[in-house]
Amino acid sequence: MMPFRTPIRNNLEKIKDLDIKLIAPSRGPVYPKPGLILGAYRDWVSDKAKNEAIIAFVSMHGSTRRMVDHLVDSLRKNGITVKPFNLTQTDVGALAVALVDAATLVIASPTVLVGPHPNVVYAVHLANVLRPKLKFAAVIGSYGWGGKMMDQITKIITNLKVELLQSILVKGHPKEEYLRSLDRLAEQILKKHKEGNIC
Ligand SMILES: Cc1cc2nc3c(=O)[nH]c(=O)nc-3n(C[C@H](O)[C@H](O)[C@H](O)COP(=O)(O)O)c2cc1C
Repeated sequence: MMPFRTPIRNNLEKIKDLDIKLIAPSRGPVYPKPGLILGAYRDWVSDKAKNEAIIAFVSMHGSTRRMVDHLVDSLRKNGITVKPFNLTQTDVGALAVALVDAATLVIASPTVLVGPHPNVVYAVHLANVLRPKLKFAAVIGSYGWGGKMMDQITKIITNLKVELLQSILVKGHPKEEYLRSLDRLAEQILKKHKEGNIC
């Protein structure tokens, strides 16, 4: 439903004064309890995001993974619900469900052949076509010598109405100073959620 929020919202407005007894779609099951369905639709189409951050990540040799693990801890210490998804194992359906309500998406990838890892490209494309309620996004990851990972990711997410937060790209394995940068990113995410009345 995510990409169709506006027409659904308009249709909910049209039927708001009707006393609906039954929802009988042209295909699929008949619902004798319309309240449950209408309530779910109202929730799905609202702009209200939750104090949640999704981290969609891949790591080939552990450097990005170290950054992700640190950021997960740091976000949790700041009271933010974190849902990490290892994209080499994740069912993308589960990722799509998590995207419904989250306020922030952190994309974490090593640089592979100049850009993000292909599984990250796939997940980011999915987020872009689903157009969830996301308000903020950040890119973190590791590289060996250089590339265009940030560029390529920002070119994919043009549908997302997100504010891009500080990106953190590290050569090789993250040193202590980069872990502190991740702490600052977690604090920035909390600040943004507070300013947006998300928590
Ligand atoms: C197949 C492959 C392709 C890579 N391509 C690039 C590249 O184009 N640019 C770059 O800076 N590093 C490249 N690297 C190096 C990785 O980005 C680097 O080792 C990084 O630290 C790996 O992060 P990870 O430990 O999270 O997997 C490549 C590594 C592999 C295995």
